[in-house]
Amino acid sequence: MEKTLVLIKPDAVKRGLVGEIINLYERKGLQIDQLKWFEPDEKRLAAHYKAHEGKPFYEGLMSFMHSGPLVAMVLKGENAISVVRKINGATDYIEAECGSIRGLYAYSKTENCVHGSDGLDSAACEIDVWFGE
Ligand code: RTP
Ligand code: MG
Repeated sequence: MEKTLVLIKPDAVKRGLVGEIINLYERKGLQIDQLKWFEPDEKRLAAHYKAHEGKPFYEGLMSFMHSGPLVAMVLKGENAISVVRKINGATDYIEAECGSIRGLYAYSKTENCVHGSDGLDSAACEIDVWFGE
């Protein structure tokens, strides 16, 4: 079964949406393999977002991700990577499909509730960043 890394970002944690969000993944048949609460340090977040370093939104993204606790999860299931990204919806809340997490709950392009790995390689890397030794 495929595994993917999901983050429930600080905006969603602050707004009390953790249960609601986990519900959406579980109802679609995904299973929780690992789950942990984090107040991540600079090093972990930089490793997670290393592909975005230098982009115009990077500094704003890093400070948002430091703005409060978040929940990291490994979800598993058939096609877990694509299924999670479908449930999350498009990055930009304006484009996000109505029933997706970002379509339902996000009102900012940066503070957009969730993260999901975008491929097999990034999933393996990100699972190591959050749950490795
Ligand atoms: P994610 O990595 O969080 O699952 O989101 P994604 O693949 O849909 O989007 P990505 O391009 O990987 O961007 C990572 C995160 O950076 C923030 N972002 N802000 N203000 C902006 O223009 C902007 N663009 C991206 C979002 O938090 C996005 O999820
Ligand atoms: Mg991404």
